Amino acid sequence: MNILVLSRNAGLYSTQSIAKAAQARGHKVSIIDHLMCNIIIEKSKPQLYTGFDLMEGYDAVIPRIGASATAYGAAVIRTIESMGVFTTVKADALLKARDKLTCMQILSAAGLDVPKTGISAGDTCAGMVYDKISSDKAIVKLLASTQGLGVILTASKSQGMSVVEGFHRVNQDVLVQEFIEDAKGSDIRAFVVDGEIVGAMVRQALPGEFRSNIHRGATATIAQLSQEEREIALKATSILGLSIAGVDILRSKRGPLILEVNASPGLEGIEGTTKVDIAGKIIEFIERNKKS
Ligand SMILES: Nc1ncnc2c1ncn2[C@@H]1O[C@H](COP(=O)(O)OP(=O)(O)O)[C@@H](O)[C@H]1O
Ligand SMILES: [Mg+2]
Repeated sequence: MNILVLSRNAGLYSTQSIAKAAQARGHKVSIIDHLMCNIIIEKSKPQLYTGFDLMEGYDAVIPRIGASATAYGAAVIRTIESMGVFTTVKADALLKARDKLTCMQILSAAGLDVPKTGISAGDTCAGMVYDKISSDKAIVKLLASTQGLGVILTASKSQGMSVVEGFHRVNQDVLVQEFIEDAKGSDIRAFVVDGEIVGAMVRQALPGEFRSNIHRGATATIAQLSQEEREIALKATSILGLSIAGVDILRSKRGPLILEVNASPGLEGIEGTTKVDIAGKIIEFIERNKKS
């Protein structure tokens, strides 16, 4: 197969891991920065170019779209879908998962448990929303935070309100969310490929830190998932229309809660921790599903 990986940085671990897994299985791989892809739209003739070169002849595309280029990345993926080329993530699914508010709405509507979450359009009703979520500590987070940057633990309503107002001043919408203290700075990352959990890890935040992102210094070990955790991870992935996802789960007294679903999950932490060839699983998924 001729596989295209969309990635802003060919040197990233995940991009390299996917490229190596594809080459090891005899496929040809090209890595192109999606921000270098130009989209041309006309009736029944979607086209992508890098510079003046028409992008054609690909059997499958693996988009690795980071949070800094979600909207444009989704537009490139939509063009690929219109061209009838198999893509491991659909544009709509990427957009649904990437926006934390949309994601929480879809998952909770499907009966999955999530941390109680609220939002108001501006400062006026922000206090009411905070009261609905908590009487003291709460999480305030950007709709599109990544790597834990933009996720804040506030100790009181007055502190929470100043954080919310500050974000509003710089035109950023924020969620106020129930702080799941029982999770004790840890969460589960379940990696799903094509309806199967191919690896799972527990991430534990550094002492004094509540964010369990590897980028924030958290350590990871192999996770043993309960049946319920496996089921909600698979359900969340399929409800969002994703085939590949990193599902983050908080273990709480009332059971597992879905925190977020990552549509472009990194491979370094999960492959390093579980020693599973996750990139290989992704290539095998394409081999099973590609439309020629
Ligand atoms: N409501 C919450 N309760 C407890 N911990 C949380 C909560 N929200 C986030 N965290 C912690 O912060 C980390 C980052 O939050 P997350 O919503 O996943 O944002 P990001 O997309 O930036 O990773 C999570 O992995 C978790 O450890
Ligand atoms: Mg996260």
